[in-house]
Amino acid sequence: MKFFVDTADTKDIADLAATGLIDGVTTNPSLIAKSGRPFADVIAEICALTPGPVSAEVVATDYDGMIKEARKLAKIASNVTVKLPLTLDGLKACKTLTGEGTQVNVTLCFSANQALLAAKAGATFISPFIGRLDDIHLDGMDLIHEIRQIYDNYLFDTEILAASIRTPNHVKLCALAGADVMTAPPAVIKSLVNHPLTDKGLEIFLADAKKAGIKV
Ligand code: G3P
Repeated sequence: MKFFVDTADTKDIADLAATGLIDGVTTNPSLIAKSGRPFADVIAEICALTPGPVSAEVVATDYDGMIKEARKLAKIASNVTVKLPLTLDGLKACKTLTGEGTQVNVTLCFSANQALLAAKAGATFISPFIGRLDDIHLDGMDLIHEIRQIYDNYLFDTEILAASIRTPNHVKLCALAGADVMTAPPAVIKSLVNHPLTDKGLEIFLADAKKAGIKV
């Protein structure tokens, strides 16, 4: 499963990119707003930090507006993936853009039928939002299982990009369900390494090495 980091904080992205564990970046208008920096500058900087796909979202809601913004975004760097909302205009724009060779991430997916439409529109990625379904007392992970089955039934090559990941358990369940990619905030990705028995075991090994005067 590929790991994308869901942030517009370039320092966090640089830190994680240095681990070699990050395959791409996702942003959305809320994350860009939080950075307090001009949209194009942030996206250009992120694209230089990783060779992987960097999702940058349009804010227009009509087809013509989306196409205009998408073409502008795609010119920022060759690894820009244009993020479009899951609406009829968004799907129409997806078909046009992917037909021209632009990578598209169709976002705000909350149902298997929406994911089916995105695949038919040629989406490169579909972004089902796990945490926001959990927020309304549904099981977001059911959606990942349903999309996986539908895409496998018809051999769609649209990649399932599990988004709105809030916990390490979400990450594990996405991997078990066969999501192609998961995107999570930096803190969630960093927390995956933690286990109290790893800390305790290391402490014992180091104490024993010290006692025995072991030097490597
Ligand atoms: O990639 C979409 C993601 O940023 C949404 O996450 O936690 O705001 O639902 P969240």
